[in-house]
Amino acid sequence: MASERTSRNQAEYDGPGDHQSGHDHDVTGSTAWRELSAHQPHVYAMHLREVFAVDPERGRDLTIDVGDLHIDYSKHRVLRETLDLLFSLARETHLEDKRDAMFWGEHINTSEDRAVLHTALRLPREATLRVDGQDVVSDVHEVLDRMGAFTDRLRSGEWTGHTGERITTVVNIGIGGSDLGPAMVYQALRHYADAGISCRFVSNVDPADLVGTLADLDPATTLFVIASKTFSTLETLTNAAAARAWLLRGLGIDESDTKNFAVAKHFVAVSTAAEKVADFGIDTDQMFGFWDWVGGRYSVDSAIGLSVMAAIGKEAFADFLHGFNIVDRHFRSAPLHQNAPVILGLIGLWYNNFWGAQSRVVLPYSNDMARFAAYLQQLTMESNGKSVDSHGHHVTTDTGEIFWGEPGTNGQHAFYQLLHQGTRLVPADFIGFASPTDDLPVASSDGGEPGSMHDLLMSNYFAQTKVLAFGKTADEIAAEGVDPHVVAHKVMPGNRPSTSIIAPELTPSVLGQLIALYEHQVFVEGAVWGINSFDQWGVELGKTQAKELLAVLEQSDAPAPQDDSSTDSLIRWYREHRGR
Ligand code: F6P
Repeated sequence: MASERTSRNQAEYDGPGDHQSGHDHDVTGSTAWRELSAHQPHVYAMHLREVFAVDPERGRDLTIDVGDLHIDYSKHRVLRETLDLLFSLARETHLEDKRDAMFWGEHINTSEDRAVLHTALRLPREATLRVDGQDVVSDVHEVLDRMGAFTDRLRSGEWTGHTGERITTVVNIGIGGSDLGPAMVYQALRHYADAGISCRFVSNVDPADLVGTLADLDPATTLFVIASKTFSTLETLTNAAAARAWLLRGLGIDESDTKNFAVAKHFVAVSTAAEKVADFGIDTDQMFGFWDWVGGRYSVDSAIGLSVMAAIGKEAFADFLHGFNIVDRHFRSAPLHQNAPVILGLIGLWYNNFWGAQSRVVLPYSNDMARFAAYLQQLTMESNGKSVDSHGHHVTTDTGEIFWGEPGTNGQHAFYQLLHQGTRLVPADFIGFASPTDDLPVASSDGGEPGSMHDLLMSNYFAQTKVLAFGKTADEIAAEGVDPHVVAHKVMPGNRPSTSIIAPELTPSVLGQLIALYEHQVFVEGAVWGINSFDQWGVELGKTQAKELLAVLEQSDAPAPQDDSSTDSLIRWYREHRGR
């Protein structure tokens, strides 16, 4: 890991910044793009049955092992030649230079003039990285140490609430990256919660979320983590203020006494905005910081993971970070043709741009990963849902795959029909594990020894990838004696692509590896498209207009007319039904 230990400052750097200002930014004008376009009809005409028949070793060859992840990408509608062309596209768009620029701390988030350094959050203590004159690694570990000391006190019971009782529930109040990451990880790693502390998550400004979450909690044993990078997010600050009122009321303290010292025993903050935290009434000694170079959707491995650390402990959290780092090192050093995030990112882009696929479905065969698709939606879609490139020019091709999904077998009984027989191409990512987090015996199919419920789950995983790829022809169905009128309805076309990702077990490290695998795919796609994957200006206007419209909803006299007749009449209807 020599390169991680090397500090490079910007003066030494002679990388992609130069390339970016010098070359044609339109990726569709590149040679590789043209060649891929010409090549696509050839692949389109082939069925995966044929692809496997002419290249029988591809099921063994088109796999890659990274850390604990075994990744099979052979069931994709790509030939070896396709992959070579995709690697040429990556080279032509300077993917490796751009990747290195991220790891070195270049300000690749150009619209906000920021470095993008979530990878620094998982560097080991002995690594060195100076960015903009600052020793980033020691900053990261200083916060991790503070988080560890605090969560040790919580977990041991040394930290108590206002009445001297032990904290048993941590409620994280945040939204977007300040919620989805810790909520997903806490659920995925629930087996590692070993200190009698459980977590809950409140995000929505719909009061039902907070009210429902707090309904059966005891203020005396509840600690709130107010998680907000900016500490200015309306939803979070509104919920935090309501939670504080709930706490004070529950402890029999005057609700208006917001600076009461009881608050200090029950509220901590995670933020980059110390002043705003203090304004809210949380002592900055009880704030765990991070930095503007950590995007919200890339922050679960920063102090935003405090609630998770409270539940699973600092050692398991360190394993989680180590998992990310395994994939970071792989992404940074493996050649393109052996680089898992590069291969998977480019295959995603292949379907998105050359096949007209609009979405990718993520199917964990693990109930504990139920929130993974929701987490990935923010990671991928807030990152790559952009219409202008990083220079502000309109892109000339589609960007931003739409991510969606559900845990495996639930999906099978809901939307897999469309995956198997619908008219749309939906590439799928299957995620499964060899060892279960829970298992139960099931009666064996042959009346012998009881089998394993986990094997039953995984038999579905393997069956689905197989059926999607190879299907069942009309001849095969007719040969089974099926009524000829029904044959067409039963044909399984196959030729539907998927990636199979499989790991020994869902451990903290494996979860970190999986997240990093997707983070870097986002990077690969964004880099090839030439967009800035690290800003999110598209969410701002809605926030501003909501503030303005709130004032209109609350007006005591007639509502101010809106610019458009639809919003105007909707607001009038709403106010009427609110009795205003
Ligand atoms: O509105 C989008 C967003 O800015 C996300 O990028 C972010 O994760 C979320 O809001 C929450 O922001 P914050 O952590 O600053 O409260």
